[in-house]
Amino acid sequence: MGDRAIDTLLLEERRYPPPADFAAQANAKADLYDVPFEEFWEREGRSRVTWFEPFHTLLEWELPYARWYVGGKINVAYNCLDRHVEAGLGDRVAYHYEAEPVGERADITYGQLLSEVVKAANGLKALGVGKGTPVGIYMGMGPGLPVAMLACARIGAPFTVVFGGFSAEALADRLNDMRCEILLTQDEAYRRGQIVPLKRNADEALASCPTVRKVVVGQRTRADVPMDPERDLTWGQMIAGQPSDPASCPCEPMDSEDLLYLLYTSGTTAKPKGIAHTTAGYLVGVATTHHYIFDLKPETDVYWCAADIGWVTGHSYIVFGPLCNGATSVLYEGTPDFPDKDRWWDIVERYKVTILYTAPTAIRAHMKWGPEYAQRHDLSSLRLLGSVGEPINPEAWVWYREHIGSDRTPIVDTWWQTETGMILITPLPGVTTLKPGSATKPFPGVEAAVVNDRGEEVGPGGGGYLVLKRPWPAMTRGIFGDDARFRATYWERFPGMYFAGDGARIDEDGDFWLLGRVDDVMNVSGHRISTIEVESALVDHPAVAEAAVCGRADPVTGQAIVAFVTLKGGEEGSVEMLETLREHVARKIGPIAKPANIVFTPELPKTRSGKIMRRLLRDVAEERPLGDTTTLADPAVVAEIAERAAAQPAEE
Ligand code: WT7
Repeated sequence: MGDRAIDTLLLEERRYPPPADFAAQANAKADLYDVPFEEFWEREGRSRVTWFEPFHTLLEWELPYARWYVGGKINVAYNCLDRHVEAGLGDRVAYHYEAEPVGERADITYGQLLSEVVKAANGLKALGVGKGTPVGIYMGMGPGLPVAMLACARIGAPFTVVFGGFSAEALADRLNDMRCEILLTQDEAYRRGQIVPLKRNADEALASCPTVRKVVVGQRTRADVPMDPERDLTWGQMIAGQPSDPASCPCEPMDSEDLLYLLYTSGTTAKPKGIAHTTAGYLVGVATTHHYIFDLKPETDVYWCAADIGWVTGHSYIVFGPLCNGATSVLYEGTPDFPDKDRWWDIVERYKVTILYTAPTAIRAHMKWGPEYAQRHDLSSLRLLGSVGEPINPEAWVWYREHIGSDRTPIVDTWWQTETGMILITPLPGVTTLKPGSATKPFPGVEAAVVNDRGEEVGPGGGGYLVLKRPWPAMTRGIFGDDARFRATYWERFPGMYFAGDGARIDEDGDFWLLGRVDDVMNVSGHRISTIEVESALVDHPAVAEAAVCGRADPVTGQAIVAFVTLKGGEEGSVEMLETLREHVARKIGPIAKPANIVFTPELPKTRSGKIMRRLLRDVAEERPLGDTTTLADPAVVAEIAERAAAQPAEE
């Protein structure tokens, strides 16, 4: 065993074995881990989806490119809609759609969703869209968004969804990179009671997108937006007179490896990467993981993934996985705090949600607001909770279980990435003993490891780099148009292995603890300390809701730790609290990790998907001008933090 590349300090000893009643009814049983990898994916591929023509070869692997279910013909929209309706499930609710304005809601059945998709697909065909025509989608979180994605999938048009919170410039970059011919957008969207001018942004973007020839505008707010008579038409005009009968628009038989979509991940400085996902492996991967990890019982569960469809979480676990499995989901348009901070719990109570999947950033926001909002509602329908997007601080995990899960529900902490397409490291509810802060084990058929700088596996307890050692069906098929960057980013650092860019450690039981992005690791007096452990020690203090730490250059120790802390219930910091928290960290994980300074702040800088942006905190801590702030959700937050940092009394 090689030496460790990251030191680990935090010890979490709470354990939550699976409740017997959950285990008895669980989709996943412990013997799933014993099935050989080829057999597992062969079996899932044959049984979980419906083929037009079966595949002849499970996997062709020429690093770094995999081909899965080779020779098969299949259609994603057929699997998500037609086959359920053909099986007599047309009246099952696919989405309980809850708009942001209170009281505006609709139940959309599989039958209705299919009709809408067929009309849109016929409308797109009339605009000259066919197999291989690239389509851009820039819409809000309404039913029109899955309809748009599935209509493209039905006719074989690869698409890219651009998150509705992105600017005109970000939209233009993506449309140009994919050379989109069509853009599906909408007049405006609602967000926290405000209007997001999607069509206006789109017009601004399109001034520099020569490949886009038609723009279809959904009418959400019915605002009077400018329309170019040559180029633009409304969604209503696109589908006017189009038949809704599935036979009028048969599903295109796609090759297993045909492109389904690109999803751009914003590198912080470089050009965004168009992460490619293809058809069959992706569909089998997301449907299989959704079935076992969320323990879905399609007849009785009400499943809610509270992410935005504009991120991969929404693609895989709001649209394709759940629909392929015939799930009934909640689709919520708005923010958790509109009109008040109990909006989510109102939704859980009304639809009797049984499975809730969200991100640590949202859980920490609820912690900051206080448990009284959840207490106003009956959350007893919940039987399983999930988390994704960042390492979850153990205290946030326990808060989530106690206040949302009635101290009873298992929590699945699921590690994955846009590039992986599907969840790769996760508990199986009913099987796995849970540890707050650990994503536990690689999913059956997945092989993960933690290695040091030389690519040698690090022994139990030691920190290092997370790698994946063999292919999985939903893995990306590359960065669109940039083979060299694909190889350099993921495959060259450790030959033969996929490097995820995250730090991790594996404990004595073989459980994985994610340590955050390796670029964020701090070096204090030669100790390589991960941000998450210091942050979790801070969040462990009952007064703290959220914390971010980073390293600042220090002449003596190399780097010194600076912490940015948000207190619960909107409390302001004080000199006493500062000392208390420094001591708390020293007690929890050791004096080496004691922050040299703490800045109290009501908000932390986050990306639009809710991840803490430590790069900007480093700029603040080192009193440098701020780097690129275009990916921030709210640029005003860093300015405020910089002001507070400058106003701090000089440290010891
Ligand atoms: C990065 C991928 C995949 C869905 C949303 C994010 C971090 C994600 C976890 C987790 C610790 C996590 C990693 C990863 N991450 N889930 N359960 N525990 N870290 O997709 O934007 O592509 O981000 O999110 O750092 O590399 P993404």
